[in-house]
Amino acid sequence: MTAPDEDLIASPVGITLERYIMRKQAEFPFATGELSQLLRDIALAGKIINREVNRAGLSDVTGAFSRQNVQGEQQQRLDMAAHVRFVRALRNGGQACAVLSEEEEGLIYTGNDHAKYVVAMDPLDGSSNIDVNVSIGTLFSIYCRVTPVGSKATAADFLQGGRRQVAAGYVLYGSSTMLVYTTGHGVTGFTYEPSLGEFFLSHPDLRIPAAGRTFSCNEGYWYEYPAYVRAFLESCKRRGLPGRYIGSLVADYHRNLLTGGIYLYPPTAAQTEGKLRLLYECYPLAFLMEQAGGEATTGTQAVLDVVPTDFHQRCPLVIGSPDLVQELLACVAAASAG
Ligand code: AHG
Ligand code: MN
Ligand code: MN
Repeated sequence: MTAPDEDLIASPVGITLERYIMRKQAEFPFATGELSQLLRDIALAGKIINREVNRAGLSDVTGAFSRQNVQGEQQQRLDMAAHVRFVRALRNGGQACAVLSEEEEGLIYTGNDHAKYVVAMDPLDGSSNIDVNVSIGTLFSIYCRVTPVGSKATAADFLQGGRRQVAAGYVLYGSSTMLVYTTGHGVTGFTYEPSLGEFFLSHPDLRIPAAGRTFSCNEGYWYEYPAYVRAFLESCKRRGLPGRYIGSLVADYHRNLLTGGIYLYPPTAAQTEGKLRLLYECYPLAFLMEQAGGEATTGTQAVLDVVPTDFHQRCPLVIGSPDLVQELLACVAAASAG
């Protein structure tokens, strides 16, 4: 009889997200479990959306929805499906008193006024890729409310500033589905095992390589970019660095996080604050990036230090490996000196 294949036997699917969250909670003696439950509710919504995304081509959920969002962008049917699923999961889960979504102008009250958390989210990121089977994602950002527990949440709960996030993360619906999150103690990644319906720990303590190579931006805006962005990109090209742009922020970000690189959505002539939204795109990714050893800047200040004034305000984003972000900032300095 041959010896059992050691690798096969020794490769369990590993620790589940549920168990991991419980273990982490046990490390904090005063933790009451609400944030843990909230993260589990988000993971559940992620699984539900993953199922919709996976069978999108078969279940008549692709294509445009009959509405534009508050930013005047055409909503996709899957954008709205994800929005509805997420809000429902957070309402039923009971740990969020209000939700802010890219797809709704105002606050969404969950009816859980005794909950202590609020969640800002981009239910589905990468709208232009929804119908063409390219990776898309969900982004989330969590705050502890500043208004009294038991009262109705207000704008103040969402406009606290990026450094007040208590947790943030994303679900990437890619060639495999992953959930990546931080609670301010490093970044952890989980991969979804669809046949078991569970996320399993796959990327403990994610760190971005300090020296990045890949640059990611929409070069179609070349003539609209500020001179410092063009100078930076020219320097990248002179060195033969690889350019990669999927057009789904979460997917571009995830690749750069794992392999090292920089993502840019700078101001353009047409969009002077860029396109991305501060509260539910830039803040969560900046929090994750700093926790992973990288940097996130607008070009003039750290993204997490931008003062929020509006639910849907836009913010320029330059994010990734420290060496490339610093090089971009040197181009900003050179442009303003010269
Ligand atoms: P959303 O689908 O949530 O509106 O976000 C789309 C964003 C982001 O995912 C992506 O990086 C960017 O739009 C692409 O914009 P361009 O087509 O202007 O490059
Ligand atoms: Mn988005
Ligand atoms: Mn979106």
